[in-house]
Amino acid sequence: MVLAPMAGITNVGFRQLCREQGGGIYVCEMITTVALVERNPKTLRMIAFGADESPRSLQLYGTDPEITAAAVRIVVEKDLADHIDLNFGCPVPKVTRRGGGAALPWRRRLFARLVKAAVDAAAPAGVPVTVKMRKGIDDDHLTYVEAGLAAQDAGVAAVALHGRTAAQRYSGTADWDAIATLKQALDVPVLGNGDIWEADDALRMVAHTGVDGVVIGRGCLGRPWLFADLEAAFAGRTDRRLPTLGEVALTMRRHAELLVDQFTAGARNPARGERDGCTDFRKHVAWYLKGFPIGSELRRALAMIDSLAQLDDLLGKLDPTVPFPTETLGQPRGRTNSPGKVFLPDGWLASRDDDTVPQGAELDDSGG
Ligand SMILES: Cc1cc2nc3c(=O)[nH]c(=O)nc-3n(C[C@H](O)[C@H](O)[C@H](O)COP(=O)(O)O)c2cc1C
Repeated sequence: MVLAPMAGITNVGFRQLCREQGGGIYVCEMITTVALVERNPKTLRMIAFGADESPRSLQLYGTDPEITAAAVRIVVEKDLADHIDLNFGCPVPKVTRRGGGAALPWRRRLFARLVKAAVDAAAPAGVPVTVKMRKGIDDDHLTYVEAGLAAQDAGVAAVALHGRTAAQRYSGTADWDAIATLKQALDVPVLGNGDIWEADDALRMVAHTGVDGVVIGRGCLGRPWLFADLEAAFAGRTDRRLPTLGEVALTMRRHAELLVDQFTAGARNPARGERDGCTDFRKHVAWYLKGFPIGSELRRALAMIDSLAQLDDLLGKLDPTVPFPTETLGQPRGRTNSPGKVFLPDGWLASRDDDTVPQGAELDDSGG
């Protein structure tokens, strides 16, 4: 099982919280190749792993084969990671309108060149490279089978497919039939991604598609114990966690504490670590408390904490005996936006074999 890279979420603290629940691959936040090559200080701080983290799994975003190869060389020469994943799934307009992210596999020669450049740069150090992609730009411009085969030819260790097109963004449901089709088409391991909200969804995905592994994104937001459930499910057990509000509060405290540790360790000014860690934690509060009967005032106050003492005080006001709100099980959480037009550079769709590197599609800010 794999924790999906999620910008702004899967930092070292969150990954540790998830790793405490079970074994798997926990991918860090996306790092942009340009920022790494330029030694951007924020980016360098984001490449942080726990002392016991294994494998250290790093996701890179790039659009230029040479810059990507240079970034991979830095990763292997400085021994920054044990696994590199390449992101070809980003659907945001500022990326696709320049030909990056989910738009890039359409330019099949450029895609193949880019993946090969990363694999070749990682090979001397024995670092495996994987690719994560969507089905295509939209239903009329699917790329996943061709791109999967090209990535396989380039020497990737596995391919992960999020069963949505860029046009779908996070709307509708993920197409698990497409994941099954890709699994049939490739010899390298295929990982399925999209809409695993509960451990039993993962079992259903494996049964439906035959995939070699599952990638979990939004389902674990506010529910890191999903990884314990997944481990139980894959071991053939039926026990699942339904934490009481008191147990959820303990998990929230642990998460906030890990973020404070992370921000203190990485901060230029360690005195600000507690405040920055607590600020980062705020976005998780609503996910943890989804469905629990808690007054709006307490909910609001928890989402504005600046210190662990404040958090402890507010968590102390919760009734620890409240049972888990089972009506939230299996429900989507996190982003569920509407489909939208995919903005592309002029002439993009008409020139599949043009392998010119798109201009301005490199993001210079890691974490998306
Ligand atoms: C907040 C957020 C940030 C994300 N950031 C990234 C990213 O940096 N790289 C990436 O490949 N996918 C990113 N994704 C997509 C997820 O990795 C995953 O493919 C998607 O959420 C579908 O899986 P799910 O249905 O399990 O959530 C992000 C998703 C969310 C919700």
